[in-house]
Amino acid sequence: MTIESLGSEALERITAAGDAAALEALRVEYLGKQGSVSGLLKTLGKMSPEERQTEGPKIHALRQSVTDALASRKEAIDAAALEQQLASETFDLTLPAPERPRGSVHPVSQVMDELAEIFADLGFAVATGPEVEDDWHNFTALNMPESHPARAMHDTFYFPDRDEEGRRMLLRTHTSPVQIRTMVAEGAPLRIIAPGRVYRSDSDATHTPMFHQVEGLVIDKGIHLGHLKWTLETFLKAFFERDDIVLRLRPSYFPFTEPSVEVDVGWENVGGRRVLGGDGDAPGHGWMELLGSGMVNRRVIEFAGLDPDEWQGFAFGVGVDRLAMLKYGMDDLRAFFDGDIRWLQHYGFSAFDQPTLSAGVGARP
Ligand code: DAH
Repeated sequence: MTIESLGSEALERITAAGDAAALEALRVEYLGKQGSVSGLLKTLGKMSPEERQTEGPKIHALRQSVTDALASRKEAIDAAALEQQLASETFDLTLPAPERPRGSVHPVSQVMDELAEIFADLGFAVATGPEVEDDWHNFTALNMPESHPARAMHDTFYFPDRDEEGRRMLLRTHTSPVQIRTMVAEGAPLRIIAPGRVYRSDSDATHTPMFHQVEGLVIDKGIHLGHLKWTLETFLKAFFERDDIVLRLRPSYFPFTEPSVEVDVGWENVGGRRVLGGDGDAPGHGWMELLGSGMVNRRVIEFAGLDPDEWQGFAFGVGVDRLAMLKYGMDDLRAFFDGDIRWLQHYGFSAFDQPTLSAGVGARP
């Protein structure tokens, strides 16, 4: 058979192939190890150079045209099969809805929605950042250079690889890198909260390797500690739905704030349980450490590309799981992530319980 007739026969049969199996058989027949086109290719080696010069291009062109014909027929067969499937498949949408809604909103999600609602009212936007971070955003730009002891305290999960810029990759140990990312991307002024997952290699009744934080950041002109205190007080009063939330600011240290303050909240004893509210110094009352905060260190503002003589700000970070436990009375953090349906039914929220300030952020109707 000549190359030309082999070619025209192949194209004719391929075009007529009715399904994927027939097409595959033809592929094997022509292009498989023992196939006729493959056989022709093998003859090239035994030809004289002159013969190869005339026959070579013909044989290669034949192989190409058979390959192309197979591909386009395959596409047509697949498209027809999909068309037929779409035409014959139907969805029965008439199944009755379950008697009671199933599933519930996890308390962590609910609290994050409450935070967004409260802070939106104060003019804060919600910002996000990646959970897989690099050590520049997670540490260096937050004024924790390579040798800083605070790095060791973070029990970081590192990845074996570095990014294109040679930075070590890690699971973010806090939401603070979102401060840097937002300042770099948006400049100033800024008012954001950044809720999200964070990771540390730590595990017991009050620590899980993954947990949640919310970061707050305000950058503007003439910002001072008074703004920080008012903001936290307003937030905590709205969140715990009590007007008598009392804060105590204690000097502390974080590399990314200067000065740094630890914020304690007064609690009182209600039926053997510590409930936030009231003056922690009153008899029978006490103070509970709740969050870290401070005035953003001018080095951090510089790292983020802003001029610290022009822009100042405050920041805070707090555990979202902790806030949920305190507000809704769960005492074991590990249960948050067990996925036990009974726990979720008990502590979870209905999807209809959207937090709103007018209804009291955490109200269950
Ligand atoms: N990033 C800190 C942590 O994970 C929490 C924190 C403290 C955040 C003080 C802040 C801050 O923004 O100002 O322990």
